Amino acid sequence: MPPPEYASSRAAMSHAVTAYEFQDKPADYARLRAELAALLDGEHDLIANAANTAALLFGALPEVNWTGFYFLRGAELLVGPFQGKPACVRIALGRGVCGTAALERRTLVVPDVHAFAGHIACDTASRSEIVVPLIRGGELLGVLDIDSPRLQRFDAADARGLEEIARVFVASTTAATPAAG
Ligand code: SME
Repeated sequence: MPPPEYASSRAAMSHAVTAYEFQDKPADYARLRAELAALLDGEHDLIANAANTAALLFGALPEVNWTGFYFLRGAELLVGPFQGKPACVRIALGRGVCGTAALERRTLVVPDVHAFAGHIACDTASRSEIVVPLIRGGELLGVLDIDSPRLQRFDAADARGLEEIARVFVASTTAATPAAG
């Protein structure tokens, strides 16, 4: 018998992360979105849900070497939960891929990070990157950042899929009330 605190806690159940092949990106992102919603169900803590989202994405997405979050703190982004190598801690708004996506509040797909002026290299293995802004009730919360060691790893289908993933994450952090929009 597990200890009572485990027996009564759904969150203590192990979660087998599915590694999708992403041959059909819209379909696999839909499955991943459902998996994330189930994983985050009943929990609203920002850090806890960011940690589990980063871990789910790291296990599920092929050819990625960094998945994680930066959260807005004043005029800069501060690193949050992630999977991958240690990362730069603070990024000014407008700097790098993350700071640019945050400032412009739009998803940035960078096919070749070396061709992006101002790219901030955290892991030298990274060759391409996608950054999705996190918007909650019209306010910028931060960004979801994913790096790949392969050039041109991300396309428009990844952008759409990961924007939906970001929406599930943001909605989960809005305690008790469903996210607007
Ligand atoms: N490459 C990012 C910095 C964050 S790391 O990739 C984790 C950027 O240019 O903003």
